[in-house]
Amino acid sequence: MRFKIRRFDGERSYWQEFDVPVKRGMTVLEALYYIKENLDPTLSFRASCRMGVCGSCAVRINGKPRLACETQVSKLKEPVKIEPLKNFNVIRDLVTDFEGFFKKHEIVKPYLIRKSEGEIRQTPEQLKRYYIYTLCIKCGACMSACPVAKNCLGPMPVVSAYRFNEDSRDEGKEERLKILSDHIWHCHFVAECSEVCPKDLNPAEVIQKLRLEVLKFSMRW
Ligand code: FES
Repeated sequence: MRFKIRRFDGERSYWQEFDVPVKRGMTVLEALYYIKENLDPTLSFRASCRMGVCGSCAVRINGKPRLACETQVSKLKEPVKIEPLKNFNVIRDLVTDFEGFFKKHEIVKPYLIRKSEGEIRQTPEQLKRYYIYTLCIKCGACMSACPVAKNCLGPMPVVSAYRFNEDSRDEGKEERLKILSDHIWHCHFVAECSEVCPKDLNPAEVIQKLRLEVLKFSMRW
């Protein structure tokens, strides 16, 4: 199968083609490893767990941000185009710089804010309210798909803020909503983030929910 990979050597950006002998069940990540081990050892990409857990292998595959380790080559049209994530600076080939991504994450205070001390119990129902959002693997796919992420927080930090706001142990909801009130209106509801999230977290829906909450709380401010 023919793979077209977007390369970047620090100065020049160009396409390079490789032919990979594919077998049943092969993933895009395995194809990248094949290229690196057999055709061009200089090819750079990020990966670790190979099982959709660490979030480090997200790239654009035929135009869509996806996890390379979870994408079967047999489901793709040829030539398979692989490019680095959009809205991130490229360091080399498919490796992008995540510093800005994590800086944006910090803005929403992604941790439990407590004013009181002591043990806090949580019921299974309370856990259910936010559990799914703890599954975000920070792969950057939603940020790559978002048409306005360059000018605002983007979907990932908003989902993270929601995760903590919904946690019954947290006491920082109002603080976070105040922060979000400056950032949450850029979304055009294109919903591409929900389309590409490998964990089906539906960030577009979360953004709408948080907008409502910001509006409700802003009556008090
Ligand atoms: S290598 Fe960890 S998510 Fe793909």
